[in-house]
Amino acid sequence: MALRHLVFGAAWAGSAVAASVTCASNLPLSCQNTTAVSNTCCFNYPGGQLLQTQFWDTNPSTGPSNSWTVHGLWPDNCDGTFQQNCDASRAYTNISAILAKSAPSTLSFMQTYWKDISGNDESFWEHEFGKHATCISTLDPDCYTNYQPTQEVGDFFTRTVSLFQSLPSYDWLSAAGIVPSKTATYTLAAIQAALTAHHGHNVVINCDNGELNELWYQFNVRGSVQSGTFTPVDPVGSASTCPKTGIKYLPKSGSSAPTTTLKTTSKTASSTKSSGAGSTPPPGGVLSGKGVLSVDTSSTTGDGFLISSGAWYRAGGTPATYTATPNSDGSTFSLSSSKGKCAILSDSSLSCGSSVSTASGFAYDGTHLTYQGSAKFYAAASPSGQAQGTVFTSTKAVSLAIAWNPQ
Ligand SMILES: *[C@@H]1O[C@H](CO)[C@@H](O)[C@H](O)[C@H]1NC(C)=O
Ligand SMILES: *[C@@H]1O[C@H](CO)[C@@H](O)[C@H](O)[C@H]1NC(C)=O
Repeated sequence: MALRHLVFGAAWAGSAVAASVTCASNLPLSCQNTTAVSNTCCFNYPGGQLLQTQFWDTNPSTGPSNSWTVHGLWPDNCDGTFQQNCDASRAYTNISAILAKSAPSTLSFMQTYWKDISGNDESFWEHEFGKHATCISTLDPDCYTNYQPTQEVGDFFTRTVSLFQSLPSYDWLSAAGIVPSKTATYTLAAIQAALTAHHGHNVVINCDNGELNELWYQFNVRGSVQSGTFTPVDPVGSASTCPKTGIKYLPKSGSSAPTTTLKTTSKTASSTKSSGAGSTPPPGGVLSGKGVLSVDTSSTTGDGFLISSGAWYRAGGTPATYTATPNSDGSTFSLSSSKGKCAILSDSSLSCGSSVSTASGFAYDGTHLTYQGSAKFYAAASPSGQAQGTVFTSTKAVSLAIAWNPQ
């Protein structure tokens, strides 16, 4: 399995797949091990509590007015204490240059969504890498076979960005009626409930002067930060700093980000129109029954489809029939094809087959398939001719969405 993905990655995009250690799938979650785990390339230790932290900056405003921005990805110890600045030799001063070569699409996303409040993004990124990423054990250079200097930098920023993309705080708050306003105030309980509804666990909610300013989403990880599975957990350590009532969520001054460049398809289960800027997402939910999965790219609606292995195919022919089965959690469903169950594997690829033992939970936003709250899927390239494209949930060169067409 791992070999297959390495072969695909190499054939398509050269450096797209990091040659980090392949981790067994039966390792314990970080911070939840009951015996010692010696291999810290596949087990985050001591920093096993990973925090994806986000900012809402209004004075001055940073980033799009309808999105939170990235602060970082921090490895806290399991008790809320943390290490910092763990390797001075990797306190790089050329993050932008490294990413321009190794992860250009990640860099371009960061230039919009990972903003320094005083306008110096490069030094903010250097600070986040040097202070926090050097303490993530699985990113240690020793964990790579044939380590190339700075190789872990692209892995860190790409993973942080993909995690951030799976945590759309603005949309989650807005769906609960919590929207930026100069006059409205909100309670801590309402903000917590709106976020917990999606994350499944409490989120640390911080204020500056009674104004909502920062969110900390916390995870334990099975496997490495670069390719493992992040499992939401309750916070350890610092509590929320916001007051219980009277919280302000001030508007930003910037312009809003394009909500989506993807066209919608008229063949979906729902006739709901695509959401415009600021509107709440269309009703979605749990699919059931048989259907085919078509691929929408930014340029084309119905740009090929998924074949039974879960791969993307654009050269015509007959799409595979998928079966959607509601899960007992009431909010997600499983997918299977004639090949077997479908799952997002530890390298973030979508795969359906007999080797998949546990199906992943998917949802539907009324237009597209979502995984962990995001309708964004990726491929290293748009497959041409008879080629098949592996679909990923982590950022790659080509962005796509997947629509359900009931049969
Ligand atoms: C978890 O693993 C770490 C690293 O090997 C070890 O120090 C710690 O004692 C382990 N925890 C338990 C409860 O065994
Ligand atoms: C960035 O700096 C490191 C040394 O800290 C160097 O090894 C690497 O080649 C540089 N990368 C780029 C793309 O300039």
